[in-house]
Amino acid sequence: MAKLHYLGHSAFEIRGRDTVLLVDPFLSGNPTAAAQGSEFNDVRYIFVTHGHGDHLGDTVSIASRTGATVVANYEICHYLGKKGVSCHAMHIGGTFTFPFGRVKMTPALHGSDILEGDHLVPGGAPCGFLLDVDGVRIYHAGDTGLTMDMQLLAEEKVKAAILPIGGNFVMDIHDAARAVGFIRPEIVIPIHYDTFPVIMADPDAFEQLVGKTAGVKIMHSGESLELAV
Ligand code: NI
Ligand code: MN
Repeated sequence: MAKLHYLGHSAFEIRGRDTVLLVDPFLSGNPTAAAQGSEFNDVRYIFVTHGHGDHLGDTVSIASRTGATVVANYEICHYLGKKGVSCHAMHIGGTFTFPFGRVKMTPALHGSDILEGDHLVPGGAPCGFLLDVDGVRIYHAGDTGLTMDMQLLAEEKVKAAILPIGGNFVMDIHDAARAVGFIRPEIVIPIHYDTFPVIMADPDAFEQLVGKTAGVKIMHSGESLELAV
């Protein structure tokens, strides 16, 4: 059993039997945030898909306070390591088995530089994550355009795919629906929309486009969803 708690934008808390994970904990400055970083005390791992502020978010403060290990690409780990954060670096296509299950870092079509003051620090390649939490396979796509690589995920038998639909920086509802056709998950959860004016999208229209390909679960910030194997 894995319990997803949607924190708004691309941020999730995922609870397994013995572990608590965060993905892209953008909470400070997130107008849709369901929690503050200070509310997370038992986090073991923080997964960061890329270096943009709406994903890296509160990672440094939460990891510094809780001792959580950050899982990200090598370049972001190097950046965070200099700030005293403990990290586990991975890279695109790599798989590692953590105590809670297997993790694969998947490709994403996007940028990843980190804004530090008024300059950009190179943040390596953006990614998504295939996360097995107590046997439940979750795909968090991060920020990405539609890619042919997503077709490879059909063989991974994804339980829940978490996909951006807001357009402009990422897939819009049309491309995200095509992605669902590639990935073939049981459930799809649309994210990364309506947080800012430039990424407004209609999740009901997305559900129509997905049709019978997958079950669409529209989560509002603060809602939870339990997933069984
Ligand atoms: Ni981004
Ligand atoms: Mn983003």
